[in-house]
Amino acid sequence: RPGADAWVPEGGSVDELRRAAPECRGCELWRDATQVVFSKGRESARLMLVGEQPGDREDLAGEPFVGPAGRLLADAVDAAGIARDRVYVTNAVKHFRFELRGKRRIHDKPGVAHILACRPWLEAEFDAVAPSVVVALGATAARSVLGRTVRIGEVRGRVMPPDAAGAPSALPAPVLVTTHPSALLRIEDPADRAAAFEALVDDLRTAADAAG
Ligand code: URA
Ligand code: SF4
Repeated sequence: RPGADAWVPEGGSVDELRRAAPECRGCELWRDATQVVFSKGRESARLMLVGEQPGDREDLAGEPFVGPAGRLLADAVDAAGIARDRVYVTNAVKHFRFELRGKRRIHDKPGVAHILACRPWLEAEFDAVAPSVVVALGATAARSVLGRTVRIGEVRGRVMPPDAAGAPSALPAPVLVTTHPSALLRIEDPADRAAAFEALVDDLRTAADAAG
């Protein structure tokens, strides 16, 4: 299949994957991005959180979830009472996709072709980490993890068994879909935003409980 396969070391540990990822040419996104952004967190983590793609800040830092969405996610993980070392955080797509407007780089969400091209990295992470529960943050992550399009509102907050998820390749664990933290940042009404934050915290707690 086209995509990242040729660059993914078979049976690689997370460290080996991380070392190999900068060479990836599985799609064209490496060309304009500053660098690949792989994961953070321990291979021994029971809970895997999957985001969409690195943003502007992550692209520059080379680390996932270091910008505003990352701060919000960290706050939600803390509020859910989950120790940071129990969480492995990664993205469905490992290079930043953007549109240039003047000198500004505006986030452009990855297309299905990018999601599919990058999935071998995520599959290798499934193998290396063997999480007890996978949390898909938002629609892009859900598309990658489940292999199909879902409406967040219809599936969110449920721990779905791996076979019921309908994924093309065997999933390593049950999957819980929830909102992406960036979606919360776009809610202007403070009460609405607080409610959405509590819902995200609830979902993370559900996932952590299921992860044991
Ligand atoms: N949003 C994501 O989905 N991933 C990141 O790493 C940062 C923001
Ligand atoms: Fe490879 Fe993924 Fe980067 Fe595309 S986005 S070049 S598949 S690491």
